[in-house]
Amino acid sequence: MNVIVTESPEQAFSQAAGMIACEIHSNATPVLGLATGRTMESIYQILVQKHESGTLDFSKATSFNLDEYIGLSPTDPNSYRHYMQEHLFAHVNISAKEIHVPNGTAPDLDAECAQYEAAIRASGGIGLQLLGIGETGHIGFNEPPSAFDTRTRVVQLDEVTRRQNSGMFGNDPACVPERALTMGVGTILDARKLLLVAVGVGKAAIINEALNGPMSENVSATAIRLHPAYTVILDEAAASIW
Ligand code: GLP
Repeated sequence: MNVIVTESPEQAFSQAAGMIACEIHSNATPVLGLATGRTMESIYQILVQKHESGTLDFSKATSFNLDEYIGLSPTDPNSYRHYMQEHLFAHVNISAKEIHVPNGTAPDLDAECAQYEAAIRASGGIGLQLLGIGETGHIGFNEPPSAFDTRTRVVQLDEVTRRQNSGMFGNDPACVPERALTMGVGTILDARKLLLVAVGVGKAAIINEALNGPMSENVSATAIRLHPAYTVILDEAAASIW
């Protein structure tokens, strides 16, 4: 198990950004698995700074995001596609045609999921998959229960998650979409490396469950322990129970 505990959240973000930069530098055609959420914002800010200072080139990179809300168009300010544009893609030199985010407004959602899996395979597979963790213990939007062999699919969001993510929706959980598209746990485990980042005392209990609790489809983050090359970066607060 490779768990890194840093003194401050800033150090956690900086170490995570450093690992992503390394992945980009050490591959001719890097394939990144990206995540959304508040935790990722500071990591993307550091990547943008590295790019602006001339030390990080995204021109050969391909990206696949974990998930997207169903019913939100890519330009909807609450969509994850929009989040990615705002926090990363608009500020770095990644080629638009190498950006992949599941399309939550696709007319045939099952076909969209199958195409997403096919596109990941065609890229040669994800080199480094970045992960946050939700209050339900989800990675991506793999809500309880999510079998460890699940693939990209349509999921029903847990009420806990809709409340957790309601900040972007006027703090009204009822306004958060009820369903999402997400890479499955099996899809995530196929990445060559996993990097899970969590900060703050609010994540301490679920981090403890993810790292010490019984392996369970009810806490999809426990699945990362099955992966041969995973790293978890925590600040002291998120590591306080673990
Ligand atoms: C959303 C995303 C997850 C992410 C989680 C954590 O639910 N679908 O992939 O892990 O947010 O969010 P935050 O970093 O805001 O705590």
